[in-house]
Amino acid sequence: MDRVIKQRNMLKGEIIPPPDKSISHRAIMFASLAKGKSRIKNFLWAKDPISSMNAMKSLGVDIEVTETSEIVVYGKGLHSLKESEDIIDCGNSGTTIRLLSGILAGQPFLSILTGDESLRQRPMKRIIKPLSMMGADILGRKENSLPPLVIKGGSLKGINYEMPIASAQVKSCILLAGLYADGETTVIEPHKSRDHTEKMLKSMGANIEVNGNIVKISTQRKELNPFEINVPGDFSSAAFFIAAATLVKDSEVIIKNVCLNETRTGFLDVLNRMGGNVEILEQRNQAGEPVGDLRVKSSPGLKSVIVEGDIIPRLIDEFPILCVLATQAEGKTVIKDAKDLRAKESDRIRAMTTELKKLGVHIEELEDGVEIKGPCKIKANEVYSYKDHRIAMSLSIAGLLADGETKIVDADSVDISFPEFYSIMENLQN
Ligand code: S3P
Repeated sequence: MDRVIKQRNMLKGEIIPPPDKSISHRAIMFASLAKGKSRIKNFLWAKDPISSMNAMKSLGVDIEVTETSEIVVYGKGLHSLKESEDIIDCGNSGTTIRLLSGILAGQPFLSILTGDESLRQRPMKRIIKPLSMMGADILGRKENSLPPLVIKGGSLKGINYEMPIASAQVKSCILLAGLYADGETTVIEPHKSRDHTEKMLKSMGANIEVNGNIVKISTQRKELNPFEINVPGDFSSAAFFIAAATLVKDSEVIIKNVCLNETRTGFLDVLNRMGGNVEILEQRNQAGEPVGDLRVKSSPGLKSVIVEGDIIPRLIDEFPILCVLATQAEGKTVIKDAKDLRAKESDRIRAMTTELKKLGVHIEELEDGVEIKGPCKIKANEVYSYKDHRIAMSLSIAGLLADGETKIVDADSVDISFPEFYSIMENLQN
């Protein structure tokens, strides 16, 4: 499905972003390993976390959805999963296939995991290598590099693993296998990635310790405790409207109930350096995470910035929308050290360079990022989402600035993480 975006003169109103995707995936998977009844409120009903829910169901977990769309998971413990009768389809979701592989490596049965066209091209050596070192029998297509994956789980041993790149999916995969492995498993990251797995497993009683970029977990002999969680709003989804309210003149938007976990909010730090106007109205705690309401006002005089190094994992999913912000900043913005963006739902460096050029942006592709010279006048045109939710949403926000109609081809990819994206956008007052 395509979508036409019209220029907007101002955006006003209050929005609630969708529940956090990373936390929703983890809640459904980890509750399935606990012993007892867990309740998940405000689960993200979008394609990606639904892939995780269906995967756990096919592994024999009893999952119920209440009339109010809450999820009740009747966990029967760490060793209660059953072999799936069929291939498990992880859809478009890297988080599902990578985290689940860690869990399945520790199960005494065979599993086959696949996904859509995009997922079947995403690199899996990064999990196959450490899981094999732990003793798992795991195979993939193209010399063990791509899905489908065949996992013959069994007994594992703990390892000490230095990750070549920061990745919460890889870290979480190894930690989950570590629950089942003999002895201690240690993961060391070059830069710290999102830490929802560590926080949630700790709250369930796992033997997990975090020391900067080093995480240690040891064999889980006691069962994990069930939990109740109210999933907070997704910062990565909120980021599209933070950018929209910053860029569209005369705007003021309140974004409620946003998860402000430090490992996720690099985009806010960068926007601050650019001269953005975001106020955190009320900070509180929800589901073991800091949460706040944000007031965002338009900021006409944005300045260019250099974004590199440690901050990259803290804004990895915000790269496409950060490119859109940079189109309106005075001077040359450089984003680098982000080569892994080529291995996301699409090659996001190539996708944003190609499509923003069609909108008249002065953008150059680097091997590990982009250079953007701003401010640019955005010209309406037809652009392609590459069936990547974050590319579709970023180009749609760029379209709000174009004089004329911008057509986003395959815009329905927003359903992966933010099904209400377009209705929220339309409901903001003009
Ligand atoms: C995620 C980790 C990140 C991120 C993805 C969600 C997670 O991927 O890009 O959208 O929930 O763990 P990588 O681990 O590949 O960086």
